[in-house]
Amino acid sequence: GAPVEADISKLAPGEMMTVEWRGKPVWILRRTPEMLSSLEKTDAAVSDPESGKEMQPEYAKNKHRSIKPEYLITVGICTHLGCSPSDKFKVGADSGMGEDWHGGFLCPCHGSKFDLSGRVYKSMPAPDNLEVPPHKYLSDTTILIG
Ligand code: FES
Repeated sequence: GAPVEADISKLAPGEMMTVEWRGKPVWILRRTPEMLSSLEKTDAAVSDPESGKEMQPEYAKNKHRSIKPEYLITVGICTHLGCSPSDKFKVGADSGMGEDWHGGFLCPCHGSKFDLSGRVYKSMPAPDNLEVPPHKYLSDTTILIG
């Protein structure tokens, strides 16, 4: 599959867009400062906080799992059996996920939960964090995926 270009110029803080790459959905989430600070709170609850154990690009091996902290770029496919998680960006009691939910993603198939870096919570069916595809910035508003 050929690399694909994503134009992120219209992506507002707190919004996510999807582009297709090799037949897979790739999510681009522009995280707000609040979303970024939630990662401090989920650090202790996720199984691989620095993405150390996976085959991932070097720039994904940190809490933000991204080149620029503001933008998360990840494959929107659950690492368990390949369902597509849904976004659960609301936090707290409003989220439907429990009072101490900090925002993230929920896989509808077997209930795996991921935080706003796509880091899987401990003791979930999904073994790994969501995959970060190889990518780079062609400009401030254009990302090349693949
Ligand atoms: Fe996502 Fe099983 S496919 S939890």
